[in-house]
Amino acid sequence: MTQTTPSFTPPQDEGAVKISYKGKSSTFPVLTGTSGNNVIDIRNLQKDLDLFTFDPGLGTTASCESKITFIDGDKGVLLYRGYPITQLAEHSSFPEVAYLLLYGNLPTRHEYKVFVDRLEEKSLLHEQIRNFFNGFRRDAHPMSILCGTVAGLSAFYPEGTDTSNEESRDIAAVHLIAKIPTIAAWAYKYSRGEPFVYPRADYSYSENFLNMLFARPDTPYQINPIFSKAMDRILILHADHEQNASTSTVRLTGSTGAHPFACIAAGIAALWGPAHGGANEAVLKMLHTIGSKENIPDYIAQVKDKNSDVRLMGFGHRVYKNFDPRAKIMKKTCDEVLNELGEQDPLLELAMELEKYALQDDYFVQRKLYPNVDFYSGIIFKAMGIPESMFTALFAVARTVGWVSQWKEAFNDPLRRIYRPRQLYTGPGERDLWPR
Ligand code: SDX
Repeated sequence: MTQTTPSFTPPQDEGAVKISYKGKSSTFPVLTGTSGNNVIDIRNLQKDLDLFTFDPGLGTTASCESKITFIDGDKGVLLYRGYPITQLAEHSSFPEVAYLLLYGNLPTRHEYKVFVDRLEEKSLLHEQIRNFFNGFRRDAHPMSILCGTVAGLSAFYPEGTDTSNEESRDIAAVHLIAKIPTIAAWAYKYSRGEPFVYPRADYSYSENFLNMLFARPDTPYQINPIFSKAMDRILILHADHEQNASTSTVRLTGSTGAHPFACIAAGIAALWGPAHGGANEAVLKMLHTIGSKENIPDYIAQVKDKNSDVRLMGFGHRVYKNFDPRAKIMKKTCDEVLNELGEQDPLLELAMELEKYALQDDYFVQRKLYPNVDFYSGIIFKAMGIPESMFTALFAVARTVGWVSQWKEAFNDPLRRIYRPRQLYTGPGERDLWPR
């Protein structure tokens, strides 16, 4: 299979910045990429001026160079290897997008066949993995099972610790993309006390995921093509998103040379937080709390009250200061799924009222807070019969593609080094233990 991982080209200089401090000055090159902000290369800042930069949350720090995904937050644009998410969501399949993110170009028909066959071949778990599940309580959150089992899976692939060559890294990537849906679906089955369902060679990636979630020995599961198309689109929308918290976690863990399965387990842990991938589950809880549109003004008043720690879940984004393009596609998919079911979901009506109310309120307009990918996703998942506890696990299934693509890319970066941020220390100065 021809792997077309683009090689790194040194970013081009785009002028320079001169910094003077306490009688010393130095010039730092400004680097430019294909799109987006230029960056100041400050790697010599400490050597030249004995200074660090200070950027809590890394909101204005480029942690790496990448060729995979680009977001224009002001325009609400998301590109996977240059292709707009709107086009990919409409015309591509999730395995096709996975190939694109992994190798840099859309696959030929042959490359696609080889790739999906590899995924299908690796989608089974070692039978002993079943024992992992018995160690969890039945009511364990699927993300705890996913995180623990993916980390534990590393014990079955000791060769994964060899990250020195592209081929072993590629094998680890394919293993993870292929196996994580099975683990996620089995976590759900385990919570229901139902038998595990195995992946099938005659089903697509999304069909398999739905079948492993919902099939039962006593009643065959009819795959609704609207649902499998919706699942494919949802996986595409969640596949990658630049250097978000969980992807940065994977890159950081990968920079130490850790086992790839351990790196992805770290990403799963980071994604679980309600400020990140856990927001889809939090949106549903928020809508249940609000209950009806009459309660929207009171809830929004709480959100705007700085003394409450209430946030409008599914709203706001570190990068998007316009609509998250994924939210718009999610909303469209939501309509399609609900129309297919012939249902009007009161939670969707409530969410739409909430969005309308917030977007007319200066608090949100001034701060450029718009619906993000999580605002509508929970409503679709619920309509498809996916329980709230599985929402973030579904996000993790999709984001595994982005995580492994970014993890692999880092190894080809000539500037690769272990992540080791510094700090601004404001603790006690040196002092003696005695006398006291
Ligand atoms: C994802 O990074 C990614 O790309 C993530 C993601 C991906 O695909 O990987 O897109 C997936 O995680 C989407 C985001 C899901 N999280 C939520 O929906 C949780 C609710 N959102 C917020 O917690 C918040 O908007 C964040 C965490 C998403 C972004 O936080 P930032 O960029 O650190 O924003 P901030 O905290 O600096 O807020 C700026 C201002 C503050 O008010 P002031 O101090 O200026 O008065 O906006 C306010 C915040 O209080 N604010 C909100 C808000 N989000 C920001 N106020 C109310 N509700 C919100 N949701």
